[in-house]
Amino acid sequence: MKEVKASITGIEGYVPDYVLTNAELETLVDTNDEWIVSRTGIKERRILKEPGLGSSHMGAEAVKGLLAKTGIKPEEIDLLICATITPDFIFPSTANLICNMTGIRSVGSFDVNAACSGFIYALEVGSQYIETGKYKKVVIVGTDKMSAVMDYTDRRTCILFGDGAGAVLLEPNTEGNGVIDSLIRADGEGYAQLIQKGGGSRFPASHETVDNRMHFLHQDGQQVFKSAVRNMADVSAEIMERNHLSHEDVAWLVPHQANRRIIEATANRMGIGMDKVMMNIQYYGNTTAATIPLCLWDYEDQLKKGDNLIFAAFGAGFTWASAYVKWAY
Ligand code: UT7
Repeated sequence: MKEVKASITGIEGYVPDYVLTNAELETLVDTNDEWIVSRTGIKERRILKEPGLGSSHMGAEAVKGLLAKTGIKPEEIDLLICATITPDFIFPSTANLICNMTGIRSVGSFDVNAACSGFIYALEVGSQYIETGKYKKVVIVGTDKMSAVMDYTDRRTCILFGDGAGAVLLEPNTEGNGVIDSLIRADGEGYAQLIQKGGGSRFPASHETVDNRMHFLHQDGQQVFKSAVRNMADVSAEIMERNHLSHEDVAWLVPHQANRRIIEATANRMGIGMDKVMMNIQYYGNTTAATIPLCLWDYEDQLKKGDNLIFAAFGAGFTWASAYVKWAY
C-alpha cells in the first residue's frame, strides 16, 4: 500500500480592507517611515476596524473562500483546527465559531495556541489525522486580529503587527506530495518576553490590569529578535539536513513574517537566495498565525506540483517550528 501524505489541496487568504500606513502611525507615535522600513521591512498593515468583529470573522471569510475555490461542501469537512492567539473569546474556541459561520457542523474543531508558530503546529496536528486515514478533509486556519491587543501608544510594538487570516485544505495524497516532515519545538523560558499578561486566570481583568496596560501585547524586542534568528535558522537547517535537502533542492522558503532582517538571516543560514523566499511583510506586517498561509496565498500562482517548500516560524512561548512540504498541485 502506498504511503499516505497530507497534502495541501487549496489555499485562501483574507485581509481586511483598512490599510494602516507608516505615515498614519507617524501621527500616533514618535516614529518614521524610514525607521520602520529599514528595521522591519514593513510599509503597511491591514486592520479589522468594524466593531463587533473578531478573528473568527477573518478566519470564516478565508474558509468560505477556500470551500468555494475547491468546490468542497461544508458537510464534507471532517475536522477544523484554528491557530490563533487573539480568540474572539477566552472560550468557546474560535474554531467552533468559524464552523458555525461557515456551515461546518457536527465535526471536531479546536484552537491551537502556539503564537507565530501556530500555523505549523496546527498543520502538524491536522496532518496526523490524514496520514492515519482517520479523516479525509481537514481545514487548518491561521487567524489573528493583532490590532485587538496593540497599544497604539507604544512605538516598539504597534508598528509591527497587522490583522489577517489564511486557510488550507488537507487531503490524502499517495503520489509522494504533501507534508513530508515537520517539527515543533517549545521552551517556556522566554514566556515573559512576548506576552499578553492580563485577562487570563493569573491576572483576570480588573481596573488594575487595565490601568497597567496588561491587556496589550508586551515584547522585549531585542531578546526576541536574537532568539528568533537563532531558532528559525536552526529549525530550518535541521529539517533540511534530516531530509537530505541542499539549498538547490528547495524551491521556496516560506518564513513567518516578523521582521525582514530575521527572514534574511534564516535564508542566509540555509544558503537560499532571496529570490526563493516568500515575503509579503511589507503589505501585512506580522499577522502572527496567518503569515504563512497568507504567503502561500500570495505566491500560489508561482507554485508548481512537486516544489519543495520549507516553512519556518518562531513566536511567543517561545515556540518554533518548521515543515517540509512537497506542493501537490
Ligand atoms: O513574531 C513574533 C516574534 N517577534 C519578533 O520576531 C520580533 C523581534 N524583534 C524585532 O523585530 C526588533 O527587535 C524590533 C523591530 C522590535 C526593534 O528593532 P531593533 O533594531 O531591535 O531596535 P531596538 O529595540 O534596539 O531600538 C533601537 C532604537 C531605540 O532608541 P535608542 O534607545 O537607541 O535611542 C528605540 O527606542 O530605536 C528606537 N525605536 C524606534 N524609533 C522609531 C524603537 N521603536 C521605534 C520606532 N520608531 N517605532
